[in-house]
Amino acid sequence: MAFPALPVTLTCLILLSLLSLAMAADNNSTGLILVNCGASVQGDDDSGRTWDGDTGSKFAPSLKGVAATAPNQDPSLPSTVPFMTARIFTSNYTYSFSVKPGRMFLRLYFYPVAYPNYAVSDAFFSVTTPKLVLLNDFSASQTAQAITSAFLVREFSVNVSSGSSLDLTFAPSAHRNGSYAFVNGIEIVPTPDIFTAPDTRNVGDNTAPFSFDTSSSLQTMYRLNVGGQAISPKGDLGGFYRSWANDAPYIAGGSGVTFSKDDNLTITYTSKVPKYTAPPDVYGTARSMGPTAQINLNYNLTWILPVDAGFFYLLRFHFCEIQYPIIKINQRSFFIYINNQTAQEQMDVIVWSGGIGRTTYTDYVIMAAGFGQVDMWIALHPDLSSRPEYFDAILNGLEVFKLQNYGSPNNLSGLNPPLPQKPADASPSAASGKMKSVAAIIGGAVGGFIVLLAACFGVCIICKRKNKKKKKKKTSKDPGGKSEDGHWTPLTEYSGSRSAMSGNTATTGSTLPSNLCRHFTFADLQTATKNFDQAFLLGKGGFGNVYLGEIDSGTKVAIKRCNPMSEQGVHEFQTEIEMLSKLRHRHLVSLIGYCEDKSEMILVYDYMAHGTLREHLYNTKNPPLSWKQRLEICIGAARGLYYLHTGVKHTIIHRDVKTTNILLDDKWVAKVSDFGLSKTGPNMDATHVSTVVKGSFGYLDPEYFRRQQLSEKSDVYSFGVVLFEVLCARPALSPTLPKEQISLADWALRCQKQGVLGQVIDPVLQGKIAPQCFLKFTDTAEKCVADRSVDRPSMGDVLWNLEFALQLQESEEDTGSLTEGTRSSSGASPLVMTRLQSDEPSTDASTTTTSTTTMSMTGRSIASMDSDGLTPSAVFSQIMHPDGR
Ligand SMILES: *[C@@H]1O[C@H](CO)[C@@H](O)[C@H](O)[C@H]1NC(C)=O
Ligand SMILES: *[C@@H]1O[C@H](CO)[C@@H](O)[C@H](O)[C@H]1NC(C)=O
Ligand SMILES: *[C@@H]1O[C@H](CO)[C@@H](O)[C@H](O)[C@H]1NC(C)=O
Ligand SMILES: *[C@@H]1O[C@H](CO)[C@@H](O)[C@H](O)[C@H]1NC(C)=O
Ligand SMILES: *[C@@H]1O[C@H](CO)[C@@H](O)[C@H](O)[C@H]1NC(C)=O
Ligand SMILES: *[C@@H]1O[C@H](CO)[C@@H](O)[C@H](O)[C@H]1NC(C)=O
Ligand SMILES: *[C@@H]1O[C@H](CO)[C@@H](O)[C@H](O)[C@H]1NC(C)=O
Ligand SMILES: *[C@@H]1O[C@H](CO)[C@@H](O)[C@H](O)[C@H]1NC(C)=O
Ligand SMILES: *[C@@H]1O[C@H](CO)[C@@H](O)[C@H](O)[C@H]1NC(C)=O
Repeated sequence: MAFPALPVTLTCLILLSLLSLAMAADNNSTGLILVNCGASVQGDDDSGRTWDGDTGSKFAPSLKGVAATAPNQDPSLPSTVPFMTARIFTSNYTYSFSVKPGRMFLRLYFYPVAYPNYAVSDAFFSVTTPKLVLLNDFSASQTAQAITSAFLVREFSVNVSSGSSLDLTFAPSAHRNGSYAFVNGIEIVPTPDIFTAPDTRNVGDNTAPFSFDTSSSLQTMYRLNVGGQAISPKGDLGGFYRSWANDAPYIAGGSGVTFSKDDNLTITYTSKVPKYTAPPDVYGTARSMGPTAQINLNYNLTWILPVDAGFFYLLRFHFCEIQYPIIKINQRSFFIYINNQTAQEQMDVIVWSGGIGRTTYTDYVIMAAGFGQVDMWIALHPDLSSRPEYFDAILNGLEVFKLQNYGSPNNLSGLNPPLPQKPADASPSAASGKMKSVAAIIGGAVGGFIVLLAACFGVCIICKRKNKKKKKKKTSKDPGGKSEDGHWTPLTEYSGSRSAMSGNTATTGSTLPSNLCRHFTFADLQTATKNFDQAFLLGKGGFGNVYLGEIDSGTKVAIKRCNPMSEQGVHEFQTEIEMLSKLRHRHLVSLIGYCEDKSEMILVYDYMAHGTLREHLYNTKNPPLSWKQRLEICIGAARGLYYLHTGVKHTIIHRDVKTTNILLDDKWVAKVSDFGLSKTGPNMDATHVSTVVKGSFGYLDPEYFRRQQLSEKSDVYSFGVVLFEVLCARPALSPTLPKEQISLADWALRCQKQGVLGQVIDPVLQGKIAPQCFLKFTDTAEKCVADRSVDRPSMGDVLWNLEFALQLQESEEDTGSLTEGTRSSSGASPLVMTRLQSDEPSTDASTTTTSTTTMSMTGRSIASMDSDGLTPSAVFSQIMHPDGR
């Protein structure tokens, strides 16, 4: 009963916060201007702000142009306002905004689709102010395609001098026949002077301080919450409605570790760093190089950001030390390199900020030379003069702005990005760069900021969908938890059938109430964890802590306490509950319940006695797993993924398959965990989903990176990396190894091609794998990591092949020619019994559902723990040692 109330309560919270935002956004007092072009009435956007139509607006004198409505609403649009209506101009037109003099953000919204009677490919236009070209010969359609986004938002910062208005001219490109201009929305947000920083320095030969011309304009290229989650406009405290993106897509090479602030720490702003500089979520999360000084010395923590050549850029680095014991000067000190030049020697955040938890930022200006789009390199490296135990670097946030006036007077426009390759003519070699040039592949220069916005809006889409679902809440009694229309079903509806099917009602039935997904009070969980005692801490990550708890006098559970600070947390909290409550499967981790008292977001899982698969592969004191055990674990995980892809009405893509998200219970049954990033939707099985790239480095599908289109085959790729990891017992990425060995997928493929893969496998497996089994297994793994998704097998095929490999191994072991490891399997016959119709995985999902569901009910997991996975959000992170460092 309690469970269905959750979305309602959360929605209320969200509505309340929206309401207060809407009131704060009173346009008369703040000077906020929101114009929904092509509309004649007011409308609200996803953040609750009211936009006025441009028809009859005082800002649109003698308005020309055609008011058009988009023929279709792309599901990725955050809201109908301002995207669904457009103003189309076939000749020059100027909006005139009477604004208070000073600096302001100007945001232009574009939804490039074929408006009635206008071909989308004909829209080429410029946007100018009397003194400045903002966009020139701009194709919103081409730019959006280049980054596979349905819409674009361009952000500029301009300083309007007193006595003048902000005049924006939309002009169709004169040198193209039949071109037109269009715009969907215009947003103006006044700000103070946020760009003049006394310590701004030029990078390179000219080390003179840089003095910012306060009258000049800028274009936002990137705004990254380093090591943290995307922050949407309404989450940007300070009232500027900025969007912050996760930095992970731009990381090159070793990804370091992400972490969030210690609980007992409050972010402190100083007079030099006003609160609006960046929200606490930006300063409260960070990325560092990692816990091992020797590794840190041997690599640079590097981001690669494509930018337009020929401009000067202002780079703002946000810093805040947020973890004990880094409290003193000369503990963590490091170098900042921009484009391979030293921007800062011996950056010591404590020196700049004055202490732990205190914020600071540094600004640098650099010229990007070249033509078209070029890569901006940002790298951090430990300072050898700091204390060796702290050889490390940290970054909390990064903003990159393109500058007017220096080098390029009165013109901020770049070229349209080249279109991405069509899949048909994409040559396999084109992607051989894989991880190394990842960031370069992502979008065009200008793409960065849009990707970032899409990330933020993603949050809102889910919230919106949730609302819709609630309205038409309709339940079915499908015991699989899948309702007729694919929406989640209150679990009480089928708890009866569950216990009927469950073989062990004696244990689970008595300790847990009838309701499968249970609501806990905060006090319950305080008791369960002795008030979240550090002694019960199992793990710690970017988005909260995981504690071992005991409920119902004796049942061990894993309690994930999400950090309530970020709204992204709310989103992933909801995703995880929604996903897990409707999914019940022997090979998926089980959610017992949740708590959302007092703005706490806590999830309670079955405790997984044997932790993560990775803990049994390398860097561990655990005894090695036998080859057969490894095969069985892979088969279990494959079965869980196969169920996600085909066993439910709408395909679910996990998006973060890795060895730390495969957990093992006390009977060594593998369970897939961490659904915070999972995607589902009615449109998912039809084609692909275009989305912001998320996942973990080393496991990421290169095609997903190139095209940002997600499909089940992305999970297949990641699973292929898992297979190699299991075989070779080494991490997916090892930044310290020679270059060609850093990426496991690349390296294993190379070894496989050269026929030497057998030499690089886990030494303890030498001589223990049946040759036929080895061939089958490596052949399957190789196909999984095929560069093009069409060349990869389905999860059903993978599962079938792994089971076949296991049989080959077993028959060889029966003949006694191999020395078997520690444990004999009790699960051999069920494996055969429950084999799915894997040859046609997607044709008849309903039969599969029934069979797998039955299986899940009987074999309900006894234990689960979400270790790395506790941070659906800290996707790219590794788990931190419970005591930090
Ligand atoms: C903004 O001002 C207009 C009049 O200029 C008014 O009609 C509208 O309601 C205001 N919007 C908000 C959100 O206050
Ligand atoms: C808006 O502000 C102006 C002064 O800037 C004031 O004259 C006017 O009355 C205000 N309008 C409303 C509706 O508050
Ligand atoms: C339209 O605007 C563009 C750019 O501002 C300008 O070059 C062009 O001359 C204008 N055309 C007319 C007819 O005013
Ligand atoms: C525009 O059309 C005219 C005649 O229809 C043609 O002569 C001219 O080459 C075209 N210009 C461009 C840029 O396509
Ligand atoms: C805007 O530019 C003027 C000079 O044109 C300068 O005096 C003023 O300080 C600037 N305002 C801001 C907020 O940068
Ligand atoms: C805050 O907590 C950390 C452990 O998370 C501890 O090391 C540190 O001493 C605590 N600091 C204060 C001021 O309580
Ligand atoms: C920086 O150095 C790396 C490796 O030496 C090189 O690949 C890259 O192009 C350089 N970047 C820039 C912007 O010069
Ligand atoms: C880190 O980057 C700097 C500047 O490009 C370069 O000089 C240095 O060799 C790099 N160090 C490593 C370990 O790659
Ligand atoms: C502005 O710069 C772009 C290239 O960056 C160029 O194509 C365009 O002609 C320039 N426009 C003006 C008016 O200078």
